[in-house]
Amino acid sequence: MESILPFHIHSLIKLLLFLTILHHLQPEASSSGPSPLPKEALPTKSGYLQVNSTTGSAIFYTFYEAKQPATPLSQTPILIWLQGGPGCSSMIGNFYELGPWRVSSNVSVEPNPGTWNRIFGLVFIDNPIGVGFSIAASFEEIPRNQRGVAKHLFIAIKKFIKLDDSFKTRPIYVTGESYAGKYVPAFGFYALKKNAKLPVSERVNLVGVAIGNGLTDPITQVATHALNAYYSALVNDKQKTILENLQKNAVELTENRNWSEATNARSRVLDKLQEMTGLATLYDLRRLTPYQSELVAEFLANAEVKKVLGAEENIVFEACSDVVGEALQEDVMKSVRYMVDYLVKNTQVLLYQGQCDLRDSVVSNEAWMKKLKWERIGEFLEAERKVWKVNGNLAGFVQKLGSLSHVVVLGAGHLVPTDQAVNSQAMIEDWVLEKGLFANEQVISEIYSNLKGSL
Ligand SMILES: *[C@@H]1O[C@H](CO)[C@@H](O)[C@H](O)[C@H]1NC(C)=O
Ligand SMILES: *[C@@H]1O[C@H](CO)[C@@H](O)[C@H](O)[C@H]1NC(C)=O
Ligand SMILES: *[C@@H]1O[C@H](CO)[C@@H](O)[C@H](O)[C@H]1NC(C)=O
Repeated sequence: MESILPFHIHSLIKLLLFLTILHHLQPEASSSGPSPLPKEALPTKSGYLQVNSTTGSAIFYTFYEAKQPATPLSQTPILIWLQGGPGCSSMIGNFYELGPWRVSSNVSVEPNPGTWNRIFGLVFIDNPIGVGFSIAASFEEIPRNQRGVAKHLFIAIKKFIKLDDSFKTRPIYVTGESYAGKYVPAFGFYALKKNAKLPVSERVNLVGVAIGNGLTDPITQVATHALNAYYSALVNDKQKTILENLQKNAVELTENRNWSEATNARSRVLDKLQEMTGLATLYDLRRLTPYQSELVAEFLANAEVKKVLGAEENIVFEACSDVVGEALQEDVMKSVRYMVDYLVKNTQVLLYQGQCDLRDSVVSNEAWMKKLKWERIGEFLEAERKVWKVNGNLAGFVQKLGSLSHVVVLGAGHLVPTDQAVNSQAMIEDWVLEKGLFANEQVISEIYSNLKGSL
């Protein structure tokens, strides 16, 4: 999730962190009875990837191998998932959105019919350090900007690749949601630049990036809430003007590089929108109750579950870390759009959004996509937005040109895989495999000309 956390007193944060990290908290009592995480639901691998051998800071991951790989494993793509926040754990993605087993309302796991590891390997990473089960040795070591985030991720992902000989050759796609609209481009940009300086055996085989309901170019995105709410019939003209004034303030503070205040100004826009509409959540205008991602924290509080996942028993799992949110307070309004400019020229890019999200909406993303510095952006904007169906049912719209794909997922809010599990699986599979509406136009025209030749 992408949520802006209130200001917290620095020393309190430090104290809490100290307590968490230095294992001064009592482990919870072991539960009795059968494990709430049955054997068939365990990850293929999970544990820690150290990012700093001096301090011991480490990133927690869970990896699920492809269930029905369509290719030899050495060629089977691996998807990496990064949660947003800043500060939220990818275990939300794992156990509430796209992982093979999801926590249900009675806090037990059930198979997910739309899991993203059907034909691909799938890795969930608690990023940055200090998030979820990841370990931050000190508050100072938690990254304050996207370069710092990417640096740690690159170390961790390289270590992950070294865990198994077959991983080295597999194509890697980095995906994520919400505030990962920052992390995903930052990692992609860093990895491609770094790869160029490394021998082939040391590179990360990155071939694509995907962002769901992302916050990527905040100065552009923050200016879209008023109009979006107005044309969704959620505010009237007068309220639209009030929102526009708050937005203007956020834009000005961002232009003045008054980063912390700009973040607060953005929160004021969203708070006002929330207050005016009275919605259960801005993450999905249809919902009468918020998403229940706190079920994940409830589930992961269980000592037995922590043990079988290989998580540090003394870490008290939080779905979202206020400490990490605070560390990235000045990062929120900084744009990474220029990194997407680079990625769209050098790799595959998928931007998808649930139709009903009001925080990082379709409209807010289309607003910055138009500004991409890419020689084909004009052509992209003129490309047909195609009607997308899954199993004969309307699923949304797909617009693709060359390396850039945009998908609107109907009947979904901020957490697309939670709301449209099967459709989200169809989307990611077709995009990675360049099938269906994601087939390359060149390939299609070749097929046509071959057909003509044979007629
Ligand atoms: C590891 O931690 C030390 C001490 O805080 C720091 O000087 C160093 O830059 C860190 N290395 C990385 C890769 O973050
Ligand atoms: C929890 O819900 C699932 C599916 O609704 C059901 O199969 C399971 O028996 C329930 N578990 C408990 C302990 O109620
Ligand atoms: C940032 O904005 C706040 C609120 O407008 C203002 O009080 C403060 O002086 C600004 N800080 C800087 C460094 O410009």
